[in-house]
Amino acid sequence: MWTENVAWQVHHHPHDAMLAIFRKKTRIFASLGLVVLLYLLLALVPERRETLFGFTYVRSTYDWSQHPLRYPISEYTPLPTGAPRSLPPVQYRFTTDPSPEGVARRELIADRRAEVKAAFIKSWTSYKNIGFGYDELLPVSGKGHDVPGFGGWGATLVDSLPTLWIMDLKEEFYEATAAAATINWARTKDTSCNYFETTIRHLGGLLSAYDLSLERVLLEKAIELGDMLYMAYDTPNHMPPFWMDFSKAKKGQLVAGYHDPSASVATSSLEFTRLTQLTGNSKYYDAINRVTRVLEEWQNRTSLPGMWPVFFDMAQLELDSDNSFSLGALADSLYEYLPKTFALLGGLEPVYEKLYRGAMDTVIENLLFRPMTPNQDDVLFSGSVYVTPSTGPYLTAESQHLTCFAGGMFGLGGKLFDIPEHVQIGERLARGCVWAYDAMPAGIMPEVFTLFKCETLEPCPWDEDEWLNGANTQLTRGFKTARDPRYLLRPEAIESVFLMYRMTGNPEYQEMAWKMFQSIRRATETKLAFSSIQSVRNAETVKTDSMESFWLAETLRYFYLIFSPPDLINLDEYVLNTEAHPLKRPR
Ligand SMILES: *[C@@H]1O[C@H](CO)[C@@H](O)[C@H](O)[C@H]1NC(C)=O
Repeated sequence: MWTENVAWQVHHHPHDAMLAIFRKKTRIFASLGLVVLLYLLLALVPERRETLFGFTYVRSTYDWSQHPLRYPISEYTPLPTGAPRSLPPVQYRFTTDPSPEGVARRELIADRRAEVKAAFIKSWTSYKNIGFGYDELLPVSGKGHDVPGFGGWGATLVDSLPTLWIMDLKEEFYEATAAAATINWARTKDTSCNYFETTIRHLGGLLSAYDLSLERVLLEKAIELGDMLYMAYDTPNHMPPFWMDFSKAKKGQLVAGYHDPSASVATSSLEFTRLTQLTGNSKYYDAINRVTRVLEEWQNRTSLPGMWPVFFDMAQLELDSDNSFSLGALADSLYEYLPKTFALLGGLEPVYEKLYRGAMDTVIENLLFRPMTPNQDDVLFSGSVYVTPSTGPYLTAESQHLTCFAGGMFGLGGKLFDIPEHVQIGERLARGCVWAYDAMPAGIMPEVFTLFKCETLEPCPWDEDEWLNGANTQLTRGFKTARDPRYLLRPEAIESVFLMYRMTGNPEYQEMAWKMFQSIRRATETKLAFSSIQSVRNAETVKTDSMESFWLAETLRYFYLIFSPPDLINLDEYVLNTEAHPLKRPR
């Protein structure tokens, strides 16, 4: 029966059916062919090698600066004009103690610095020997690894440049710079790059390496990348998407997302401002200024006025239906960049102070909590808030390693805007993270965990019954759960400890840092380098074969800096991006 049926179909519609099949096949083959052809062409576009500023330079085979914009901008907003304001000092006024104790102390600190440097050299050498040019080294299996969305442009290589300079590894720095000078942003297996990660790691790394070394070749490579990332703003409303799809960017088809992490939307202000400062081209600053104006418009209209929800609808430029608020994952660096961009702009753009003050008032009132601990430790954490129309803001005492940056942020804002209360809050937040490091068998804080909270930020009595009834009692007293017990070589805790040390001059922070460093080294070291671990709940750790580039860019850089003389990356001369890349502040 069915053959007849087919015959009938063929008989009655032979032409149409065949043609359709034919057309479909040709379409498939044609587009396949086109892809192959494009790929071949891309691979065949000769990489022109030239000598530039004393380096062999490979110019990217696609020049985004010449790409016509689909949504051109008639007039760019320029950088604020005028002489940079003289802002209050961020760093404590350190003096050198000439006594024998002072000399001994400096020797002790120098020894610790050398141990941090040794850990860096071990990690870098393995990356160089095994994974050079890859995004990462796999520290257990000993292979190079490219991260989808990172373009295979050598994230670890670019991220490490400023560390190599800061640690005075000049030979390695120039070797890495020579390699960076040959990165071709147009040659990648990825069809899109992660706009946020590429901005903070690659663009931030190159700009910082330039600010430190003044090697022009690094600025040239940064501009090429900046021109590519700038295309993220060539959307109907000039808001950036999460993924920068190269082929869509070429066709003018990029649109911002309907539900994107607020941090990825709003964390380019430092890098793009610096790019405008260094090139005189206003387009980069104009782009991030547009995002800042949206933050300003929205700040008091959210369900938790002062803060912004974790997710943004940038496609429709409407406040998303999201009602969650946090300083942790997906939101963190939006807040972090407010005081930092203020500093980078020499205090000439008041909007960043307004946004900072408004946001932090809300954070203090709604997100911070004091944990109930047996010793009534004077520490704070930042939790997450969910707002419902019936209950209003509801605070969950869940915190994350990622929120540990908040101590440093409060410290910096407190210093720059002369709010002593914020510096104190910053100290209590930083000490909270140290407390959580100390509480775990591995001596490291878990990735995500919950605590018991006091009613207010004042001390509250320990309630053994509440803890026994509500907690996983295999954990230290004070902890309820360790929902995600991993440690991923993250920097945020040492970041705040380092910043508080430089702001207060209190040597206790160096002692905390040394304890943290020893725990991390013990728990994560492999034959080749250092690795993420499965759980901080055991002193014996399982390595999970991952070493993200921030281990070399941030974690080890902060550990090195806290044991260095305070004029190395003086915080009155530099502001650090969210990947710990120092950018020069105007004077
Ligand atoms: C939000 O409201 C506060 C308090 O009224 C005000 O100080 C602040 O400037 C407002 N923020 C914005 C961005 O308008």
